[in-house]
Amino acid sequence: MVTALTTSPEEAADRLRRGGLVAFPTETVYGLGADAFQPDAVRRIFDAKGRPADNPLIVHLHRRGQIQRVAADVPPSAQRLFDVFAPGPLTLILPKHDGLPSVVTAGLETVGVRLPRLPLAQSFLEACATPVPAPSANQSGRPSPTSWEAVEHDLGGRVDCILQGGRTDTGVESTVVDCTTDPVAVLRPGAVAVEAIRRVLGAVQEAPPDEEAAPRSPGTRHRHYAPTAQVRLVDTPSNASPGARHAYVGLEAPSRPNAFGAVYVEEDIEAYAHDLFHVLRACDEKEIEIIYAQSVSSEGLGRALNDRLRRAAAR
Ligand code: TXA
Ligand code: MG
Repeated sequence: MVTALTTSPEEAADRLRRGGLVAFPTETVYGLGADAFQPDAVRRIFDAKGRPADNPLIVHLHRRGQIQRVAADVPPSAQRLFDVFAPGPLTLILPKHDGLPSVVTAGLETVGVRLPRLPLAQSFLEACATPVPAPSANQSGRPSPTSWEAVEHDLGGRVDCILQGGRTDTGVESTVVDCTTDPVAVLRPGAVAVEAIRRVLGAVQEAPPDEEAAPRSPGTRHRHYAPTAQVRLVDTPSNASPGARHAYVGLEAPSRPNAFGAVYVEEDIEAYAHDLFHVLRACDEKEIEIIYAQSVSSEGLGRALNDRLRRAAAR
């Protein structure tokens, strides 16, 4: 298959409506979409990524009026969260609409819904005029793609089209919140801080950081975000051992930067989150063998960043 590259949201949407798989940018990471109401096309998303069939997809919408097409009910907690955070990097788990093909939700009775805020994503979704289920557009297990080049690297020849935007903005995925329970539960920390959600709703349950203890979001069970290089977490740069095939990424600079094959010093947590997946992929291109990554304090966006670092380091 030849993968078409385009900057036209209309052309990309046209391919999706004809049953194609289309990768598109959002403010978090690139997604790989199909028409929710063409089950064969949705099935091909799993094949193209090598994604386990038990991992449900997030449905992307252009406006809130479309929620009724995929969800049976929008609880008051979900209304309030969307009032504050939509469009944006927040995914809400709602009861599924019977008419939505079950392949989208991997057989679950719930559906994840998100309204991206990136203008190019919105133009694309508007032109699609159908709900668009889309996981991150990486090969399953690899770091999520934050550029169209990363999508092409992982999925070139396996998808119909890539809508070319720039590097993504936040660089970590949306926060996933289950609104079918009371209080709501954060299933995956992400670009919207848990503290901000708590300010809106008061009580919020948080899944323990332990993988096995968080079975409600099936995707969190699987191996994730792993580059070819081995990732090792360090508290301080002095715990990173220098080497020509060793890299370092973190907020503080190591004392002998020239002794590493690559060094990435990030200005703040936002910049670190924005760059992380890009850095993991860049290290693979440089044939780095060990990436030392400095962990951060688990507040605000730091919670999502630490979660991704921990998963990237898990073997
Ligand atoms: O920022 C994002 O969320 C990106 C962009 C493309 O929107 N998407 C993304 O999708 O990260 P994905 O498939 O890589 O991760 C979706 C996560 C998975 O952990 C999945 O298990 C969970 O959301 N999820 C989706 N639907 C669910 C449901 N009905 N119940 C529980 N968890 C769900
Ligand atoms: Mg993913």
